[in-house]
Amino acid sequence: MRTHFCGLIDEALIGQTVTLCGWADVARDLGGLCFIDLRDHEGIVQVVAEPGGGEGNAAVVATAAKVGYEDCLRVTGTVRRRESVNNKIRTGQVEVVATAIEVLNKAEPLPFHAHENAGEDVRLKYRYLDLRTPKMQRMMRTRIRLVQALRRWLDARGFQDIETPILTKATPEGARDFLVPARMHPGEFYALPQSPQLFKQILMVAGFDRYYQIARCFRDEALRADRQLEFTQLDMEFAWVDEKTVQDATEEMIREVFREVMDVELGAEGEDFPRMTYAEAMRRYGSDKPDLRFDMELVDIAELVKDSEFKVFTDWANADDGRVVALRAPGAASLSRKQIDELAAHAAKYGAKGLAWMKVEDAGKGREGVNSPIAKFLDDATLAAILQATGAQSGDLLLFGAATYKVASDFMGALRLKVGKDLGLVGEGWKPLWVTDFPMFEWDEDESRYVALHHPFTAPAVDDEADLRANAKTAVSRGYDMVLNGNEIGGGSIRIHRSSMQSAVFELLGIGAEEAEAKFGFLLDALKFGAPPHGGIAFGIDRIAALMAGTESIRDVIAFPKTTTAQCLMTGAPSPIPDKQLAEVHIAVRPKVAG
Ligand code: AMO
Ligand code: AMP
Repeated sequence: MRTHFCGLIDEALIGQTVTLCGWADVARDLGGLCFIDLRDHEGIVQVVAEPGGGEGNAAVVATAAKVGYEDCLRVTGTVRRRESVNNKIRTGQVEVVATAIEVLNKAEPLPFHAHENAGEDVRLKYRYLDLRTPKMQRMMRTRIRLVQALRRWLDARGFQDIETPILTKATPEGARDFLVPARMHPGEFYALPQSPQLFKQILMVAGFDRYYQIARCFRDEALRADRQLEFTQLDMEFAWVDEKTVQDATEEMIREVFREVMDVELGAEGEDFPRMTYAEAMRRYGSDKPDLRFDMELVDIAELVKDSEFKVFTDWANADDGRVVALRAPGAASLSRKQIDELAAHAAKYGAKGLAWMKVEDAGKGREGVNSPIAKFLDDATLAAILQATGAQSGDLLLFGAATYKVASDFMGALRLKVGKDLGLVGEGWKPLWVTDFPMFEWDEDESRYVALHHPFTAPAVDDEADLRANAKTAVSRGYDMVLNGNEIGGGSIRIHRSSMQSAVFELLGIGAEEAEAKFGFLLDALKFGAPPHGGIAFGIDRIAALMAGTESIRDVIAFPKTTTAQCLMTGAPSPIPDKQLAEVHIAVRPKVAG
């Protein structure tokens, strides 16, 4: 149909006849002289239909005059140098003088115009129109190049691409499973994989040594900008390794793909990515995925306020698992009450019951120089100690959080991010790091039992089951996350490779021997027959692609994403199923239970 791509017409083709196919991006009829911006996946070129040159040309001009936005065209013409050069487009030096224009398919008036800022709902409903825009094409291609670069790296190093089942048994990673009724086994269900975790471990037992898969994962969890129900991992596993081998290899891989796709050098040359323990990350940044593009750190003040008159502070400062923490927002004393209330509302989303604050108007004047609803509860020495510990300067705003260690860290960490962003403190560039030494278990208040912080197959740092049992509360795991600019882009661990240790961990997680056998008997068996030490990691392809494409939402780098209400607006999924089809899979729908 065509001889060239619109976006690749250049000066070398001047004088030649070309045939192009594409969409009419903009058509302008200047009374007998028509310009059409013809667009294909490579870009745009200007097509001119001009009078003169006899009967044939009049027809071309007449056709061009009727061309509408997004009509599909096939244009034959001669390439010539353009009189008014357009430096904004790659083909801006040239234009194509049409000798024939064929309308292959007329487009009806569109629900939105690509050059407008249309709402996301309409863009998702007509996703094909949205994807057709140069901006979306660019972002999707970043993702495609990322995956190509990853595969190149992996293939060159002997990683073997092996597919694992989509219809499987639940492999709990902490989210809810998607279930698929088994027609041939009434009342039984497959689960969609939350990740290929157990299969990749078993592939190591099976002797494949190095595995990877670009794997779709399914998790029925609340959606956010960086979370989808189905998302894609680069899933990797290595046999006969310790954490250093996995980290070094995957760090080299991530550096290489950033070089290839972005022309960016990640991290300092000749140095490994920085490493930070989970404990240090929570203490300094209130997050297990700290954004190191700005310095602002949390300051613990429990010691300073443990005898103060402010009950909230003293209670938490003296509680076993409490934390009282301050955050200095430089230059933010000018914030209004309303703006501070907004910060408090933000903190509340992360569990804050309140947010105390102090405007430091003149740091040299002690009590006289501050404005704060809690100043009256603090004596002069305490006030001075707080100003000193936080390094407060005149014009700063101090924010205070008190709660359990986890909750105070969470909401103050969230505030750190918001304040950093609002005040424009977040610098350009890329700040990768490894977060290590995660706790093995977290206490789940609702279920009153331990849950695994990574997943139940992560090895503890201690090698001995008795030791783990005795020190479960403080046990550290061999898990690690790769963090980039405050995003968890990958997570993995060294795995448990002995059946007895796996059983001990199940037991500590409140999974009894019988339940463990029913759910994970196949894994426990596999670990008994010569399972080598192994470990791995999975990277969130959507998240890395979004970072590379410079967008906040992974929806922009997924061709057909779901909305935050878990729907596909284009197809209308999910949708009701006729009774007959439900009966075939032995399902009777129960009315929605309130709450
Ligand atoms: P984890 O659950 O940490 O580990 O997932 C690995 C990476 O996948 C990405 N990710 C997501 N991306 C988009 N939407 C989601 N809902 C979502 N959930 C996770 C993140 C995350 O770092 N089996 C283990 C890996 C292992 O231990 O090897 C696992 O799935 O970038
Ligand atoms: P109150 O005496 O309860 O009105 O609280 C005085 C100030 O302390 C208000 O600014 C509250 O928002 C704040 N505050 C209350 N609880 C907490 C908390 N857990 N952490 C930090 N600040 C709090």
